[in-house]
Amino acid sequence: MLPTSPIVRALRAAHVHDASRAELLQLACDRLRGLGAPYTSVYAYMLHDGELVLEAFAGRETEHTRIPVGRGVCGTAVATGEDQNVPDVAAVGNYLACNLETKSELVVLIRRGQTTLGQLDVDSDVPAGFTEPHHRAVKEIADALAVLL
Ligand code: SME
Repeated sequence: MLPTSPIVRALRAAHVHDASRAELLQLACDRLRGLGAPYTSVYAYMLHDGELVLEAFAGRETEHTRIPVGRGVCGTAVATGEDQNVPDVAAVGNYLACNLETKSELVVLIRRGQTTLGQLDVDSDVPAGFTEPHHRAVKEIADALAVLL
């Protein structure tokens, strides 16, 4: 088991202390990235009127601050309702590149019941960086955010 529970505990503690939505999303991005490889950069995109809007990130800056549903790996996750674990971003036709270093990507939806609120998008410089335990770890954080936001 990867050390994710401390992140969820930190989110709950911050929420109890009246942390804002922006602070909770920033905390999730910072702490996930703080785990180190394969978490190179972490982005919190939240859904606003059919568009994913970047509300927080940790790591490399991205030019993709707004992504329409259906575009890229991020938009595909929302359109299909499925998390996306992409071992090789170069093999994906509609991938939206942020930089040349990213090799793999994991997108985990933040869902409250049937409603998609947004997603955590993690880039990795490691090829095929994300295993099922990584997916479960990020999902635990996404599920916590769904309740706390
Ligand atoms: N690669 C994503 C775009 C977001 S950046 O990785 C931060 C995509 O294909 O949707």
